[in-house]
Amino acid sequence: MDKSAVLADWISPSNTPVTSTEQFAPSNIALCKYWGKRDKQLNLPMNASLSVSLGHLGTHTRLVPIDYPTDEIWLNSDRLLPSSPFCQRVSAFLDLFRQPGRCSFRVTTRNSIPTAAGLASSASGFAALAKAANESFALDLNTEQLSVLARLGSGSACRSVFKGFVEWQMGQRDDGLDSHGVQLPVTWPGLCVGLIKVDASEKSTDSRSGMQRTVDTAHLYQSWPVQAAHDLEKLKQALASKDFERLGQTAEHNALAMHATMIASWPPLVYWQPESLAMMQRIWKLRKEGLSCYFTMDAGPNLKLLFLQTELDALMRYFPEMEVIQPFGHG
Ligand code: DP6
Repeated sequence: MDKSAVLADWISPSNTPVTSTEQFAPSNIALCKYWGKRDKQLNLPMNASLSVSLGHLGTHTRLVPIDYPTDEIWLNSDRLLPSSPFCQRVSAFLDLFRQPGRCSFRVTTRNSIPTAAGLASSASGFAALAKAANESFALDLNTEQLSVLARLGSGSACRSVFKGFVEWQMGQRDDGLDSHGVQLPVTWPGLCVGLIKVDASEKSTDSRSGMQRTVDTAHLYQSWPVQAAHDLEKLKQALASKDFERLGQTAEHNALAMHATMIASWPPLVYWQPESLAMMQRIWKLRKEGLSCYFTMDAGPNLKLLFLQTELDALMRYFPEMEVIQPFGHG
């Protein structure tokens, strides 16, 4: 099934788009990762995942219809080349709503996170774009539908439509209408996410091709959906009982298991830099010394630390450059 067929009931091709207001979507960090697709067209996952949204860190996007043959796409005040992969993906997404050859857009996008640095800017980017398109084309979609729409741009974007803890239910349907984010009724004041930037440059293999290579070539991948399903349950229990150790252990184990499947691909996918491993070893040492902190990592070299506010001062002494977000405020 292709994307247009999925959206056929929601979109009226005769709608004339208008300028949208600036729409915001937060970045999200997965505690149980999405890695591998059962449908590449629709970004339908092999496993359910769970994330926490990063409050004010994310993407602001506005759509302005323009009288010009091609889209004009701006990212953080730079006009991007229409041939760049990012522009191609954005224009292809907008094609879902417009008739061929009719109407182009100026898309202005501001990221408050480093683009393509493993901090999932495509997730907040497509979630904000889906919200802006919803407004511009007067689609009047509810949040679950918006999440489905965002997923068609980038899988993890379906979680960035929501704040707080979000489960992406994998769904069973071929059209993916049951595969979307759901906000969990849990808050955790005092929970901290620390961003440790090892390297903020563009990564050489993006998540999309990385996960496909893993599915296609890593025998180890077969065990991944099983582990992810167990981890998801453990995380939900940890959230319900506010058991930070269980949360941190499960998230760290899940991220390392995902990286094991990447390393087991061919050609091998190793997103770590020597500094990434050095950071991990520091965190394991600090844990041995009694500091409660865990890490997670996505398809990049950077680490995201998970800890409680009680450990904030101590950890800032070890990682003075770390940017700290408290998605639910102070404890
Ligand atoms: C490692 O959502 O970027 O960050 O669906 O192909 O756009 P596409 O992939 P994307 O993959 C994110 C992978 C991850 C894990 C996660 O965020 O769950």
